[in-house]
Amino acid sequence: MRIDKMLSNVGYGTRKEVKKLLKTGVVHVDGETVKDGKFHVKLDEQSVTVHGEQVEYKEYIYLMLNKPKGVISATEDNQHETVIDLLAFEHTVFNPFPVGRLDKDTEGFLILTNDGKLSHELMSPKKHVDKTYEATIKGEVTEEDVEKFKEGVELDDGYVTKPGHLVILESGPISRIQLTITEGKFHQVKRMFLAVDKKVLELKRISIGQLELDPSLRLGEYREMTEEEIEIVRNSK
Ligand code: URA
Repeated sequence: MRIDKMLSNVGYGTRKEVKKLLKTGVVHVDGETVKDGKFHVKLDEQSVTVHGEQVEYKEYIYLMLNKPKGVISATEDNQHETVIDLLAFEHTVFNPFPVGRLDKDTEGFLILTNDGKLSHELMSPKKHVDKTYEATIKGEVTEEDVEKFKEGVELDDGYVTKPGHLVILESGPISRIQLTITEGKFHQVKRMFLAVDKKVLELKRISIGQLELDPSLRLGEYREMTEEEIEIVRNSK
């Protein structure tokens, strides 16, 4: 790969900025100064340093975000803050996008990546990847609702959902639940509760497939996923 492309891809600026950086003589390949942007680097053999610091090249980026309310799960929006606005430059240079969507008022686990293949796999209705949500519900959630969700409920447009696994954490005029579903229809959790005459007051996604949101991430915080976590998600059902 050309060295200007490589350095630009990992966050050293635009190709033009990288060209300037190269001219200053701070870039070395296997110890030799390289000033020409066209120089070809063998990614798996050669060592590149900038200001003496090793450059780790990667093509893909995988981020785990604890999405706060009020931000949109999109890459661009004219009016509202997007999840991309929460990222640092060193991560936005990879052009990540959110895998699926959480509503503006939903919190929790969102994956951002530039790996289109993984995104497609996770979103594919054929793959039925589990998504687990925790919610506060207006109304008393009952065992009858658990049974109904197990069968699948009919949404306002006539669509009957795949079975959902509903766990009641607290039942009362305001209930707390956990719900695992395998689909991602528009407003699905909210509409499933509407189907049993209840309203979702608060919604948070806590896991995707077999991977849970890191509890140490506060709302709006994110971190790169580990190799192991990426594999867990990739192999999730
Ligand atoms: N279901 C919803 O209703 N909203 C979300 O953001 C995610 C699932």
